[in-house]
Amino acid sequence: MKEKEPVMKRRRFAMTVWALVLCPLMQLAATQATAQVESPYGPKYKAGKEPPRIIAGPYLQSPADDSMTVMWMTDKNSTAWVEYGAKEPLDHKAVSEHDGLIDANTRVHRVRLSGLTPGTQYRYRVCSAEIVDFQPSSVTFGTTATLAPATFKTLSKQMDKVSVLVLNDVHESSETMRALLDLAKDERADLVVFNGDSLGHVESEDQIVRRLLQPVTELFAKTTPLVYVRGNHEARGKWARMLRDYVATPNGKYYYSFDAGPVHFVVLDTGEDKEDSHPYYSGLNNFAGYRDEEKQWLAREIETRAFREASFRVVFMHMPPFSARGEGSRRGAGAQTPARSQRPAGSQRPAGTQRGGTADCFEKFAPLLNKGKVDLLITAHTHRYAYLEPKPGEHDYPMVNGGGPNKGRATLIRLDADKNRIELTMTRDDGEVLEKREIRRK
Ligand SMILES: [Fe+2]
Repeated sequence: MKEKEPVMKRRRFAMTVWALVLCPLMQLAATQATAQVESPYGPKYKAGKEPPRIIAGPYLQSPADDSMTVMWMTDKNSTAWVEYGAKEPLDHKAVSEHDGLIDANTRVHRVRLSGLTPGTQYRYRVCSAEIVDFQPSSVTFGTTATLAPATFKTLSKQMDKVSVLVLNDVHESSETMRALLDLAKDERADLVVFNGDSLGHVESEDQIVRRLLQPVTELFAKTTPLVYVRGNHEARGKWARMLRDYVATPNGKYYYSFDAGPVHFVVLDTGEDKEDSHPYYSGLNNFAGYRDEEKQWLAREIETRAFREASFRVVFMHMPPFSARGEGSRRGAGAQTPARSQRPAGSQRPAGTQRGGTADCFEKFAPLLNKGKVDLLITAHTHRYAYLEPKPGEHDYPMVNGGGPNKGRATLIRLDADKNRIELTMTRDDGEVLEKREIRRK
């Protein structure tokens, strides 16, 4: 026993030296071996091991004259910022914050760039610093992930023209997205609208990332904003209630409005196609109440100066409030006999309107669209292409309904507007131009 005491003392001494001297020195050496990461938060950012991986985005959302929302996702919790500028260097930085706290410990990043100059091209770069340890008085950051800068252009009311591409019912098919967007690859577009049912039933974050966010990032959304319209399928599935975390709109809702050049765009959320009491929804839907709220918003919206004074008022909604079969529809391009649910459902309801949610949309939204003197309604949902001439008293404006796979063929709707006219070009996914239409300013 006497011989072991010196050995124990030597071990304790060695452990003390390791803990107090060698270990901190090695940590310091490791820190100095990798460069300090430039950040807006000062020297507490330390280089770590692996940077977070950017798994989706950046994708542009909620475009405006003086602002743009940049969204992206990382595979690790991190804090994030956007470096941007109208020219090099990217000497502006923006973060997202709520209630005095800069967002941290998140994987879905949403940064609004504000105070921008209308009609101006910007370069931007997204950055995400991993949060390794989050203590009350000290946060340890890992390395920063970033990507090569991309560009976008702010909208402007002074724009003479605006060009918009509309896809609908792609049902998470990246092949359909690519085929339709390839039809316009040589033409400039200011916005790309996904007019509902971009996904099937929403079951997981992985589905949203792989089936929607990654394809749109690759195809266009780094440089051209995605305007998201919710479809009925995206109101289904156990992840449907989280979908709002992955998109950004001007007011945080699925119904909203914005201006782009001569056009005031209104996006409506038509909700589900069946009545709330349908067994399909297990008693968990209240779209009737939601549409009441939306109706009140729309009634205020059509009285706004932006709405009334725009050269054109164009409305997007996923489900058509009228039958998508009209006299002006092109037979053979998808127009067929209305399904059972599309047949007349009551003496007060015009022929061709539908039951359930679509009838509720008709009753609550259609009178306001007439009252507001809407110039054009763009719908989807039936997967059957149709163009409806105005039908006074029912819809005083033309309506175009995009086609879709399975029941018809997917179509690309291209809208080019200036102060005097809207040109519409509807092209089938195989490249055949179905129709060209012109809407003159009233
Ligand atoms: Fe649909």
